[in-house]
Amino acid sequence: MPVVSGAEFLNAARQSGYAVGGFNTNNLEWTQAILRAAEAKKAPVLIQTSMGAAKYMGGYKLCVDLITDLVDSMGITVPVAIHLDHGSYEAALECIEVGYTSVMFDGSHLPFEENLKLAKDVVEKAHAKGVSVECEVGSIGGEEDGIIGAGELADVNECVQMVGTGIDYLACGIGNIHGVYPENWKGLAFDHLQEIANAVGNDVPLVLHGGSGIPQEQIEKAISMGVSKVNVNTEFQLSFAKATRAYIEAGKDQEGKGFDPRKLLAPGVEAIIKDAEEHIDWFGSAGKA
Ligand code: 13P
Repeated sequence: MPVVSGAEFLNAARQSGYAVGGFNTNNLEWTQAILRAAEAKKAPVLIQTSMGAAKYMGGYKLCVDLITDLVDSMGITVPVAIHLDHGSYEAALECIEVGYTSVMFDGSHLPFEENLKLAKDVVEKAHAKGVSVECEVGSIGGEEDGIIGAGELADVNECVQMVGTGIDYLACGIGNIHGVYPENWKGLAFDHLQEIANAVGNDVPLVLHGGSGIPQEQIEKAISMGVSKVNVNTEFQLSFAKATRAYIEAGKDQEGKGFDPRKLLAPGVEAIIKDAEEHIDWFGSAGKA
């Protein structure tokens, strides 16, 4: 199965009432783990890089080449979209050029008119190359790549206008937060989600950012109301770190003939696979490839 655009499977997810994982990668091992989980579950998947992760990995072109080559060498049969997470206008254009099949232009920190204008331009350039576009209205709380969002409920009228630009899927703030949820978090704002879904119509896939740490019932309810893509990053970071720490604390990194990074990273990879598979089950996308 070739690498495909996000719209290729997110529209089906919206129509059939399930969601696809938007899973963040940071390196070779995470990418392999996400692909292994998606393949094991026979689920479509979006592998996404933040701008910072792509810079860390060696640039956008390298990310495209890495993911495409792994899809090929691992014999992946499920549809995979290569997605830019929270991109600036410039990053979105670069990713469209180098072969990402899905880009998020995040202009949520800009005045709304500016966000809308740039979104229209990104849509035009992306669609000319068959690339799907996600845009955001109402900033998502917490921190993402050094950008701190206050966490808002997206303005319903702005959501409608943003969908009018021709974007393929909409990220809208509904009380969700990136990173670890605080103890006093009030949960997702379902009334608000319903208002947005009613206003933008039944065929627009909605994106839930901050998917780590939201209880399963809340995720399932959000999906039943129109969420078709759920982003997960923090949970992978936590389980990867925990598994790696346990390996080191057990003294296993000293075994054998010196230090072997492949052995050191293996428990973290297994932890991400387990997490990703569990989320795919929650999202209902297992067997949908
Ligand atoms: P988490 O921090 O909850 O994993 O959210 C990731 C995300 O939304 C990336 O855009």
